[in-house]
Amino acid sequence: MALNAIKIHNLTINPPVFLAPLAGITDGPFRRIVKKFPVGMVFSEMLSTQAVVRENKKTLKMAKFYPEERPFAIQIMGSNPEFMRDSAMKFQDLGASIIDINMGCPQSKVIKTFSGAALLKDLKLAEIIIKQVKKSIKIPLSIKIRLGWDEKSFVHTEIARIAEDNGVDLITVHGRTRSQFFSGQANWEEIKKVKERVKIPVIANGDIISPETAKKCLESSQADGIMVGRGAIGRPWLFDSIVKYLQTGEISPEPSNEEKFFIITEHLNNIESHYNYPISVFLSRKHAAWHTKRSENGSAIRDKIHRATSINEIRDLLKSFFYSA
Ligand SMILES: Cc1cc2nc3c(=O)[nH]c(=O)nc-3n(C[C@H](O)[C@H](O)[C@H](O)COP(=O)(O)O)c2cc1C
Repeated sequence: MALNAIKIHNLTINPPVFLAPLAGITDGPFRRIVKKFPVGMVFSEMLSTQAVVRENKKTLKMAKFYPEERPFAIQIMGSNPEFMRDSAMKFQDLGASIIDINMGCPQSKVIKTFSGAALLKDLKLAEIIIKQVKKSIKIPLSIKIRLGWDEKSFVHTEIARIAEDNGVDLITVHGRTRSQFFSGQANWEEIKKVKERVKIPVIANGDIISPETAKKCLESSQADGIMVGRGAIGRPWLFDSIVKYLQTGEISPEPSNEEKFFIITEHLNNIESHYNYPISVFLSRKHAAWHTKRSENGSAIRDKIHRATSINEIRDLLKSFFYSA
């Protein structure tokens, strides 16, 4: 299957396989690990533009990225067009490769502020936001949407047309509605309708958890690329097997335990250098536990990991686990 690079102005995204934004998970340390594998673009977690304009330190830290992450998308979330514009300009100045607008977050606290998936119910506001942001930045602009609010109100093709007409350069579609949250199966066929409606690159998202599902998703959606979220949690090497399979049809073996330990150790090192104690330990516990999730006999080690009080202790636990397994 051809996996053609996506070109937007002078930005090349190759391969067209993206790491999804996952709030609380796809932070700098995780994205750096993911970038060891073939991933064309990574995204920041969604950043509240209310918090950005107030210069909230925690939010601005979430926008920090490392050179090896390029091309790097910063995702902004909000409903105030001026805040969205100002935040986009700020992140352009900080070196983002692309600005992405969140139009899909289903959480009630986000919806209450008329942001995220709430914009799927107010296409006029969505258009105003797109216009404001687009005219204020020189770097590419993308949006990330769901199919609609619920099954009776699909707006994916309409919002895609609005986006394209207003200069949006790329669109990612999560094949679910807001009402579904994360239940049911992502509808990749509906994503194809967006592909048929616009000429800008379309990225398909939802339930890609293996090389085979990646291929099926691309075939059903006819999209230009794919975005993987939950499937990569604790398993950043998934990108390697997906891209190899799409290019050659071959299923690559899982990394050996030694290889996994090496990758996980590097991830913990990244966490240690990015965060202060004790946040660094809390996050290391969380990610280390995920890294053992799909391994046999992982539950006993996870209990110990959850009680660990230092990153060194977590490293030692993982070492004994992966080298004795
Ligand atoms: C814990 C979690 C956090 C998420 N955070 C974001 C976010 O910050 N921005 C966003 O656009 N989507 C967010 N999403 C949605 C994902 O990016 C993605 O669209 C969705 O999980 C479907 O893809 P997947 O099946 O590959 O995970 C989040 C999803 C989860 C489970």
